[in-house]
Amino acid sequence: MCINIQNVYAVAPAPSPLGSLNGRHLLQVSDLSPLELDALLRLTRFLKERAGHEQSGLLRGRTVALLFEKPSLRTRVSFEVALTQLGAKALFAQGAEFAIGSRETPEDAARVLSRYVDAVVIRTHDHSGLERFAGAAGVPVINALSAESHPCQALADVFTLRERFGEVAGLHIAYLGDGRNNVAASLAQAAVMLGATIHFGSPPTHRPSEGFLAQLGRLGKSAGGRARAFSNPVRAVRGADAVYTDVWTSMGEERYRERNDAMLRPYGVTEELMSYAAPHAAFMHCLPAHRGEEVSAAVIDGPNSVVFDQAENRMHSQKALLVALLTESKGFPI
Ligand code: CP
Repeated sequence: MCINIQNVYAVAPAPSPLGSLNGRHLLQVSDLSPLELDALLRLTRFLKERAGHEQSGLLRGRTVALLFEKPSLRTRVSFEVALTQLGAKALFAQGAEFAIGSRETPEDAARVLSRYVDAVVIRTHDHSGLERFAGAAGVPVINALSAESHPCQALADVFTLRERFGEVAGLHIAYLGDGRNNVAASLAQAAVMLGATIHFGSPPTHRPSEGFLAQLGRLGKSAGGRARAFSNPVRAVRGADAVYTDVWTSMGEERYRERNDAMLRPYGVTEELMSYAAPHAAFMHCLPAHRGEEVSAAVIDGPNSVVFDQAENRMHSQKALLVALLTESKGFPI
């Protein structure tokens, strides 16, 4: 079967919330409304269930630039494969070829690239440079990880939770470790927007700011999502449906590695800590992982680990995102 735009937009009710995404940027999860997030997850499911079908008509003839200042395995490859399967071409540049603001202003780079390509996917440390780039771009800009957020990871994470539990609303997710990092921030935004409760388990030095917790309260209000921070890891994890962690030191923060290792050691996800979660609790990690540090080998390689589902779902959810940002749903009745 050939998947075309008409049957893609048939997965969302009229008027499709996906239609409003055409031409937009995704710099953080909160750029989406809860309805748009839900529609993207439904489109992800539609495309994943039809992964063996011909999808190359969806973005045929489009070109997308992937500009990465920092290393990547999953994000780069999943975007390249997604674009190839959708019929588009990916152009990859890294290192000296692209660093926001180094050879020219972010605005000039954005204006130039907008004349060449249909979308730009950027991995950078500099979130404010990314915002400046997006502000001047005439094509959609996707954040493929910045110091502040990792929305593409969060789309795959909440999709994985939906696959495993049927719904994200009502789930209790525990995030252990550095509660201020980009993966934690984006996961928390997506979780509360879909009506889940997220508990951070972090020492005071790595706890999300009060301002961010208040933002999560506002984002979760309509769906009933909530966020709380605990310094006791057991209190954060008790009864959780999913336990999530990430490396203790993010890319670009290597100078803090020794301090982070010492501060975050009590928040490492071990079998003992998992024993306080619900018996069905999923273990989640965005990868790459460091066994024996933020997670024990027994947990990440154990039967409740969904880390490779998360990794696979990066590709399916990014396909949905690309289709939604780059195609018009107007004119399709459902
Ligand atoms: N999770 C993630 O973003 O992986 P990469 O850094 O390998 O892209």
